[in-house]
Amino acid sequence: MEALVCKKLGDPTAENSEEKAIVIEKSYPIPELETPTSVRVRVKATSLNYANYLQILGKYQEKPPLPFIPGSDYSGVVDAVGSAVTKFRPGDRVCSFAPLGSFAQFIVADQSLLFGVPEGCDLVAAGALPVAFGTSHVALLHRANLSSGQVLLVLGAAGGVGLAAVQIGKVVGAVVIAVARGAEKVEYLKSLGVDHVVDSSSQSIIQSVKDFLKTRKLKGVDVLYDPVGGKLTKEAMKVLNWGAHILVIGFASGEVPVIPANIALVKNWTVHGLYWGSYRIHRPAVLEDSVNELLSWVARGLITIRISHTYRLPEANLAFSAIKDRKVIGKVMIVLDDPSSVRSKL
Ligand SMILES: NC(=O)c1ccc[n+]([C@@H]2O[C@H](COP(=O)([O-])OP(=O)(O)OC[C@H]3O[C@@H](n4cnc5c(N)ncnc54)[C@H](OP(=O)(O)O)[C@@H]3O)[C@@H](O)[C@H]2O)c1
Repeated sequence: MEALVCKKLGDPTAENSEEKAIVIEKSYPIPELETPTSVRVRVKATSLNYANYLQILGKYQEKPPLPFIPGSDYSGVVDAVGSAVTKFRPGDRVCSFAPLGSFAQFIVADQSLLFGVPEGCDLVAAGALPVAFGTSHVALLHRANLSSGQVLLVLGAAGGVGLAAVQIGKVVGAVVIAVARGAEKVEYLKSLGVDHVVDSSSQSIIQSVKDFLKTRKLKGVDVLYDPVGGKLTKEAMKVLNWGAHILVIGFASGEVPVIPANIALVKNWTVHGLYWGSYRIHRPAVLEDSVNELLSWVARGLITIRISHTYRLPEANLAFSAIKDRKVIGKVMIVLDDPSSVRSKL
């Protein structure tokens, strides 16, 4: 099968073949079913997350031994099942996420880790859902208990997890304030019906959010969703309410923010560190219910998964460039060739 392999740590966007961290292998062994409950999936689409980029750079918290096939969430069609598989049959549409290995034509997972993709949910879009929407759903609803009428402030709001948080906020009836950089991202967020958008390239979060809250006769922000860190977190803390929840999701700015404990005490803030992938080990039922609810929301049209850029596997360096250069509104996808159609072209 075709697979993208990380042979050494480095920048996956580098053009020079001498420096390439990722290479395409054309005849990588197709993974075997490992146990009687294993399912092999022919991957249709796999999404790029910022974490995949950090992992190839060697800057992510989980550092697999080299060489490895990167990739986390994916969708596809069941290709083969083990003798004890009861939940799926060949031909079923599924999605899931793995610690590694989805940047390839086939992947094997236990049946307990796969989700059926319902009718009405596009298969490519389903491959973008687990990590981005799953993270935001668990953070906002399970951890911060976001509810109707509360004010939600989302940083990095046009990115993968940010855009998911914005949409989930609207579904639950929150007043949503989004922060993103540049006119194109701002226009897109406004088109979603976001209550207020701050353009971080030209506006101060503090002033813009305060002015908006005043027009709505609201006191402050109840939930801060923060996948960015650095200067934006510092500014956002100035507009938080008494009793606010801070969701620490990531550090796309490259800067880990300081949240002063003395201010948290005085203002009765709750700071949540959230590592979504670890829910699979510690609270698997929460994660499973969350992804199933999200898939049903997509099928009912409550949320839409915006695909910003689509590439083929050999173009993965361009996909990583789109993330690195902050060009993405929503998700970047790699859509894989069907091996049977590749064979018929040979
Ligand atoms: N905790 C978890 O379980 C979990 C799960 C998923 C993701 N994450 C983390 O969340 C963060 C965002 O992930 P994502 O997949 O949504 O990434 P993404 O799609 O690339 O979005 C990141 C956003 O951050 C903003 N940003 C601000 N400064 C940036 C910089 N210096 N470089 C790049 N982007 C910058 C960009 O918005 P503007 O250009 O509009 O400013 C961009 O839209 C990452 O740190 C990731 O590791 C954590």
